[in-house]
Amino acid sequence: MPPATGLFCAAPDRLPDAQALAARFALPLLSARPTAGYWLELDEVRLSLLNPDKHGPVYAEFVEGAAAHRRQFGGGRGQPVAKAIGMKGQASRDVVDATAGLGRDAFVLASLGCAVRLVERSPVAAALLADALARAHAHPDTADIAARMTVIHADASDWLASLAPEARPQVVFVDPMFPDTGNKAAAKKDMQAFQEVIGGDDDSPRLLAAALAAARERVVVKRPRLGADVAGPPPTSRQVGKSTRFDVYSVKAMPAGPR
Ligand SMILES: C[S@@+](CC[C@H](N)C(=O)[O-])C[C@H]1O[C@@H](n2cnc3c(N)ncnc32)[C@H](O)[C@@H]1O
Repeated sequence: MPPATGLFCAAPDRLPDAQALAARFALPLLSARPTAGYWLELDEVRLSLLNPDKHGPVYAEFVEGAAAHRRQFGGGRGQPVAKAIGMKGQASRDVVDATAGLGRDAFVLASLGCAVRLVERSPVAAALLADALARAHAHPDTADIAARMTVIHADASDWLASLAPEARPQVVFVDPMFPDTGNKAAAKKDMQAFQEVIGGDDDSPRLLAAALAAARERVVVKRPRLGADVAGPPPTSRQVGKSTRFDVYSVKAMPAGPR
């Protein structure tokens, strides 16, 4: 169980925002900046996960940097993730990203026109997502994309099982943090921080089963190109890229009954 991570507000005029985030995600609100370990810090610009002894600030970002680059030059509907979720022609998809993380995949899908519900069980990651989404709503370049994104703080296996029939998504997207992607030398710093603060995702087979039961069309599991499949039924097809693979489970092609 990862340690509880507190939230420190470094910008006095943003205290109401900090209080709202702390209340929404059940994070302890800190009265002083910690001197060691991990904590969340809200400044004038954004919410970040900090641990100065280990790495720079980690935050979700939908407006600037890599998100802006992918929005403009990302390859549109021809990119493997778009093919994997079944976007043909102009048809967008109703997607649940069951492992939202820092929202990078979800933002790509929303940029392509999909409505995306971002489900994240870690309060730290969910708070970072909510802050990034608020900033994306406020920026003219991303406001229309942000309008298609909703952050839900829940365990996706339980949440998917509780959906009313009319709320079931066409596609469930799953990108678990697998032990075999936890190579510390190879993992990017932000993902190393995630692994320390959030812990591993050793219950992916349960999530795959819940996703298969909830998706109306397909489940897409993102894996390292050479990574093992998630335990469960075999995928019906695969989209293989340079370093990433998308395993596609077409629900219609699956045998009926418990999967
Ligand atoms: C590898 S990261 C996902 C990265 C994400 N695709 C992105 O683009 O930033 C996996 C995330 O899924 C979350 N997660 C794993 N299992 C989950 C579950 N059953 N319900 C909700 N979130 C889950 C973890 O907390 C972690 O933040």
